[in-house]
Parts: sequence; structure tokens; C-alpha cells
Amino acid sequence: LEALNIKIEEDKSLPEAIKCKIQKSYSAIDQRVKVSGWIHRLRSSKSLVFIVLRDGTGYLQAVLTGDLARAHQTTALTLESTVTLYGKVCKLPEGKNAPGGVELLVDYYEVVSLAPSGEDAFTNKIAEGADPSLLLDQRHLALRGETLSGVMKVRAALLRAVRRFYYEEGLTEVNTPCMVQTQVEGGSTLFSLGYYGEEAYLTQSSQLYLETCLASLGDVYTIQESFRAEKSHTRRHLSEYTHIEAELCFLTFEDLLVHIEKLITKAVQYVLEDPVAGPLVEQLNPGFKAPTMPFMRLDYRDAIKWLNEHNIRNEEGEDFKFGDDIAEAAERKMTDTIGVPIFLIRFPVAIKSFYMKRCVDDDAVTESVDVLMPNVGEITGGSMRIDTTDELMAGFAREGIATDPYYWFIDQRKYGSCPHGGYGIGTERILAWLCDRFTVRDCSLYPRFSGRCKP
Ligand code: 4AD
Repeated sequence: LEALNIKIEEDKSLPEAIKCKIQKSYSAIDQRVKVSGWIHRLRSSKSLVFIVLRDGTGYLQAVLTGDLARAHQTTALTLESTVTLYGKVCKLPEGKNAPGGVELLVDYYEVVSLAPSGEDAFTNKIAEGADPSLLLDQRHLALRGETLSGVMKVRAALLRAVRRFYYEEGLTEVNTPCMVQTQVEGGSTLFSLGYYGEEAYLTQSSQLYLETCLASLGDVYTIQESFRAEKSHTRRHLSEYTHIEAELCFLTFEDLLVHIEKLITKAVQYVLEDPVAGPLVEQLNPGFKAPTMPFMRLDYRDAIKWLNEHNIRNEEGEDFKFGDDIAEAAERKMTDTIGVPIFLIRFPVAIKSFYMKRCVDDDAVTESVDVLMPNVGEITGGSMRIDTTDELMAGFAREGIATDPYYWFIDQRKYGSCPHGGYGIGTERILAWLCDRFTVRDCSLYPRFSGRCKP
């Protein structure tokens, strides 16, 4: 069809259009609305032009007919251009499918900003099947895709669900510092920074600060970035990740485990009940089954036996023995084979951090837990904490950590110590499990890992 050289004008005799977001337009049947957004899809057939408009709240199918479809302005439209569409919302007839079950019959529209065509067109920037590192360079554009934006919506719902659970359980949210002078999870993954001439680090975990809040605020949590200088590239390691951490006082190890399984099951339940995030999880992870309580408990000692019985070898290619770290590959094989959420508990003292409390019935192991999920492996690490000064000092000595910078942390054992414990959940890890993503990189807005700090 030849493009018509006509000016697109609004028919002032039509009812005034109500401004709304796409999500709201789904229920504005037979009303005239105006909706602004990005052209997500564009297709013409005969004398019709179909647009799928996107505004972050949803997708809206719109149809342009007659002169509107044939005007120059319309034939020049491109993907990712921004427009304001005016028209009547119509319920789609049975058997036809579109988001919200509606279609917008456009009677007038305005171009807000025209995106380039040709060489510089959006589709040339993030071509399908392109090299992942090119896609990461174009992350700011790739985020406009349905999958990535869907994961980000689920992420928002998950954080909302976690906060709701903490509110219901009476935990107080705090904001801990990111610039610190202490380590939590080993010196090898610390990012150091110059701090007015002093040495400082980016925080690996807010745990130690959360512990100091117990005596002041009671049970607490924080949701904030943690930083790890991980040297190896894996599916599940980032240099910066959003860490959900909680610390609880006057509880037993079993209480802690029950709290964690309740958090995970409730948070997942709230996400699935969410009108936006629930359907997205179903789309991203068809057939996903919400976990149920209680989670399986597996002792580290029994896990070692299980691995040996199933011919899964340690890092040296030998049978597992007590004290071996169960590395990523072995852990995943075990978790995938068992196929349900697992509390892997009671790790040996030697492979865990300085602060972990030993078990009363077996002092070679600690009151510690990793939560393992099929397809991802570890999503949570937690433990009961040493609550006496002597034992804590022995822990520091064992790990060769100078104690001066920890004076404030040690004070917790001096001024009214209490039994306490906590855990950290990697937001991107729990999301990778919930949304069935191959890597945690797909669950972070702008992932950071060695060699990648842009955009
Ligand atoms: O097991 P981690 O190292 O435990 C701690 O940091 C404790 N201090 C937390 C606490 O008790 N408050 O880390 C906890 C979780 C892991 O289970 C994992 O989900 C995530 O944080 N995590 C990472 N996620 C992405 N990239 C990394 N490099 C991660 N390192 C840990």
C-alpha cells in the first residue's frame, strides 16, 4: 500500500480519553482511553497496522485502520518508538488472544519520540541469539525484553513478599553500612578500597552488624548489596548481589530451621498469589511446584555417605571424606537427584566461618545450614553463632584473624550475650530457582562479575 500524505488529527467530537496505564486499560471496556508507552511489536497486514504497546505495567494490543494505518507517520513507525495511543478498549471475541483479553481500536495517536530505523534499529542492537557478552554490553536495551523484565517483576514481588513475612514475624528492618573494616566470609573474596588513607572493604555480609542490633531492636533483617571478589566464573557467582539477611535471638538451631523454611514457603506463596508475578512465574517456570514444609534435613556426614554411594567424587576425584568441601558440581548433582529443597546441616568446623557455634553432641561440627534447591544448589547459608567470648576468640585464632577491628562485635558477648542465629539468602539465587534461569546473571538488573562492571 502506498503511504498517504495526510495529517493525523484527533476527532474532537469523540468522548474525552481517560489517561491510564496499560494494566488499568484491561478493565476499561468500551471506554475511550489514552495510553502511553513503547512500541514492543509492530506488524501490518493489508490495510491494518497492529501494535503491541508496552509501558511496564503490561502489554496492550492496538489496531490502526483506514487512513490512520496508511498515513506516512504510521508507515514510518519503528520498534521502541514512544507513542500515545487514543482509542476505545474492546473486549476480544472468544477464541482470540491478547494480553488482558482486550484490543485498543486506535482513533488517534501522537508520536512522542521516534526510534531509529535501518542500521541503528533496535533489533540490530540486541539481535536474538547474539553473543551473551554483547547482550550484556546492551543490558540497558536487553532489559526491555519480556523475559528479563518478567524476572525483574518477580524479583520485586519476591522482595515485597520477604518484607511482608518479616513484618508478620515482627522483625525490624535496618540498613547496615557497605563500607566496613571487617571480614565475615574469608579474606580471599574481599574488595578493598582506600578510605581516607585507611584500609576498608566493601561488605561481604551484614551479619556482624545485624548481631549488634539484637540487644537494641530484637530480631532484625536487612536487604542490601553484598560484595565478593569471586575469581572464577560460575553460573551462580556475582561480584555484587542483593543479600537478604536476618538475625534472631533466644532461639534454638531447630527454631532457626523452622523460621527459614517458613520464610521460603510463605514468600513463594505470596509471589504466586500476586496477580502480576504469579502468572509470570508460571510463564518462566511452567509446572513450578511450591515447596512445602518441613524441608528435608540432611546431615553433612550423611551427605558424604550419599555422595560416595552415588559415585560422585570430590574435587581431587576421590571419595568424599569428612572435612571436604562439597563443591558446586557435586552439590548440584546431589540436589538435582534428590529433587526437593534440602537443609544440608551440621558442617565441619574447619570448612565454616569463625563465628559458627559447635553442636553440643558433636563438637567437630557446627549448628550450620545451607539450603539447597534443585537446579541451583545453595541459595541460603546460615548458622547459630558462638555466644561466648572465649570460644569466639578461639574461632578468630583458628582463622588467623586479627581481633582489634572486631572489638564492637566481641562486646556483644560481654554485655548481655544471648543464644542467636541467622542466615543470608542470595536474592539472585532464589530467583534463579523460582524463575528457572540458567544463571544468576539473568536475575540481576546489571550483573557484576570479574571482567564486567558496565553498563
Ligand atoms: O553462605 P554465605 O557466604 O553466608 C553469609 O554471608 C552469612 N554471613 C550470611 C548470614 O548468616 N547472615 O552467603 C549467603 C548466601 C549464599 O547462600 C548465596 O545464596 C549468596 O549469599 N551468595 C552469593 N550470591 C551470588 N553471588 C555470590 N558471589 C554469592 N556469595 C554468596
